[in-house]
Amino acid sequence: MIKNKVVIITGASSGIGEASAKLLASKGAKVVLGARREHQLRQLVDEIQKAGGQAVYQVMDVANPSDNAEIVKLAKETFGGVDVIFLNAGIMPNSPLSALRTDEWNQTVDVNIKGVLNGIAAVLPTFVSQKSGHVIATSSVAGLKAYPGGAIYGGTKWFVRDFMEVLRMESAQEGTNIRTATIYPAAINTELLDRITNQDVAEKMTALYEQYGISPDRVANVVAFAIDQPEDTNVNEFTIGPTTQPW
Ligand SMILES: NC(=O)c1ccc[n+]([C@@H]2O[C@H](COP(=O)([O-])OP(=O)(O)OC[C@H]3O[C@@H](n4cnc5c(N)ncnc54)[C@H](OP(=O)(O)O)[C@@H]3O)[C@@H](O)[C@H]2O)c1
Repeated sequence: MIKNKVVIITGASSGIGEASAKLLASKGAKVVLGARREHQLRQLVDEIQKAGGQAVYQVMDVANPSDNAEIVKLAKETFGGVDVIFLNAGIMPNSPLSALRTDEWNQTVDVNIKGVLNGIAAVLPTFVSQKSGHVIATSSVAGLKAYPGGAIYGGTKWFVRDFMEVLRMESAQEGTNIRTATIYPAAINTELLDRITNQDVAEKMTALYEQYGISPDRVANVVAFAIDQPEDTNVNEFTIGPTTQPW
């Protein structure tokens, strides 16, 4: 059931997070939205509220542990608890290793790995003590298959895959009833490519997305499906992409 669930979404200011926020709120979830760009978050909350939904936002950087603790606190203070966290914030500044964009390597690790760890650290004590909760995370097809230009990004998304599987196993062993769902999107039309600074990579990926990309609404449907399952049922992994995309 989605109705009345309190759902924290990181990376909610655009793309997959924004589409998921709108869909879940339209189905009666109370959404708590985090990202760095306040203007986009405020507009999204306004839009959801005007449509009759319930939403709040917090400006946050997932790389900062205290921001993650704050958004969990906001969810509890505003809506009385947390049922689901969607760890979705991510960046993909792809480049060949030989370009040595070491600053971007570190930023990618900070957001895509440490951001996930910070989110879990903030919410897990609540989920363990209430013996329920749902963690959804956005990996990528880059977490399933290697490709040139994607060494660091792909590595962070392989991490998400491994981490989420261990979380699922430990939750079952420990009897905490925490459900997990990992999403592996292929080409989805969002703002993800905007942060690629390597011109050659940017051009090739833009061409790929122009040819194949589909709407982030499609991923939101999968997020909603996972949440909507009965509490005793864990739907665990979803690869989702354009029907026409061969790789
Ligand atoms: N689009 C695809 O084809 C695709 C494929 C596979 C996987 N993914 C994954 O899907 C997830 C969502 O990306 P998207 O495609 O929807 O792209 P997007 O439109 O660029 O959305 C990324 C979101 O992450 C937020 N974000 C980035 N750095 C952050 C930080 N340090 N702290 C908090 N929020 C941060 C961004 O907001 P602010 O800039 O406002 O902080 C934005 O809301 C990512 O994990 C991405 O790796 C996307």
